Amino acid sequence: MRHDTILADPILPVDTLPLDVAVIVPTLNEAANVERLIEKLSTVLAGRGWEVVFVDDNSPDGTSDLVRRIGRTSRHVRIVQRVGRRGLSSAVIEGVLATAAPVIAVMDGDLQHSEDALPRLIEAVASGRADIAVGTRYVDGGGTGDWDQGRVRMSRLATRVGQIALRTDVSDPMSGFFAIRREAFDAAMPRLSAIGYKILLDIIASAPTPLRVAEIPYHFRSREAGESKIGARVIAEYLELIADKTIGRFVPVRLLKFLTVGGLGVFVHLAVLRAALGTGSAFIAAQTSAVMVAIAFNFFLNNSFTYADRKLKGWRLLGGLASFYAISAIGAVANIGIGTWVAGQHERWWVAGIAGVLVGAMWNFAMSAALTWRK
Ligand code: GDD
Ligand code: MN
Repeated sequence: MRHDTILADPILPVDTLPLDVAVIVPTLNEAANVERLIEKLSTVLAGRGWEVVFVDDNSPDGTSDLVRRIGRTSRHVRIVQRVGRRGLSSAVIEGVLATAAPVIAVMDGDLQHSEDALPRLIEAVASGRADIAVGTRYVDGGGTGDWDQGRVRMSRLATRVGQIALRTDVSDPMSGFFAIRREAFDAAMPRLSAIGYKILLDIIASAPTPLRVAEIPYHFRSREAGESKIGARVIAEYLELIADKTIGRFVPVRLLKFLTVGGLGVFVHLAVLRAALGTGSAFIAAQTSAVMVAIAFNFFLNNSFTYADRKLKGWRLLGGLASFYAISAIGAVANIGIGTWVAGQHERWWVAGIAGVLVGAMWNFAMSAALTWRK
């Protein structure tokens, strides 16, 4: 069906109705689904003042252009195109910030969230009965469609982890299908982590006062066109979101990642040291190679894990490595200096050792954040 025919609304021209609800749809390569989704929204939202805001991360398949083309003939359809950016949660947040609607709905762009549940989600919030209405797969009347056993089990496990860590009894906190009152979103906004995929969990955990939640069952459909973006990165970002929402209040998650990498670096150091000694090297030569290798290991792991969002590539990778060696060398001097000084204060040897390591690590973290991976 052509979009200019499906969107024509002969009875109620869009600008005569006040804007009641905006549907925010994050997209990454969903060109094959966009027209059908708009068609479905036009049906279930007929009679309301509505708009859909696609937030597209500059998809190579031309999703943004397609939405713009449709938007020229329908004022219901808008686009926020982000360039050089990624992330489902941050996309949703920017979509909400781009609309004036008093009620916001969020749904996927791949038709897996069944639009039949949308009016009930909106109604639960618009009526004032709830601050947020969550489309859930895990109560009677809902379901996970044709997900295989493995995917169901993984989702269940992640759901339990989220519920326990963030102390929520919402049955499907991983859902990306929900409606929320603008005021409730605005109140949570300043504290959102905006990490990864799970914006609902983020909102629930960031709300300054507990939200009144309504749960609306729906069936998760199977994806017909396009591809799911789930992968190792999605899982890592989920754990990062949970870390940020729990211990993140006390220690920045980036520092935790940096220290984790440093801890792994100790093992690399020892492994190289042992191997080099095994080939008959003198200790000083073996120790020097171990330090050099461990620093490079730390650099590359920090580059793709701790600073995945600012990853250095190409020539800048070499510059970054050089600066990281320089910073680490000074860090090592500071480590030795502080350790020796503390030991001289008649402290126990391990207290002195740990003091040196901590000062060295903090130096490395602060300086590499400011220089190696500066924004
Ligand atoms: N703008 C933007 N940026 N959109 C993205 C990005 C991104 O980095 N990554 C994914 N999307 C869009 C997809 O195009 C799709 O419209 C939607 O976000 C969901 O992505 P999928 O890759 O289809 O997710 P899924 O089906 O594996 O996972 C869904 O399962 C959850 C249930 O556990 C997610 O949709 C959740 O929203 C849902 O709750
Ligand atoms: Mn999907």
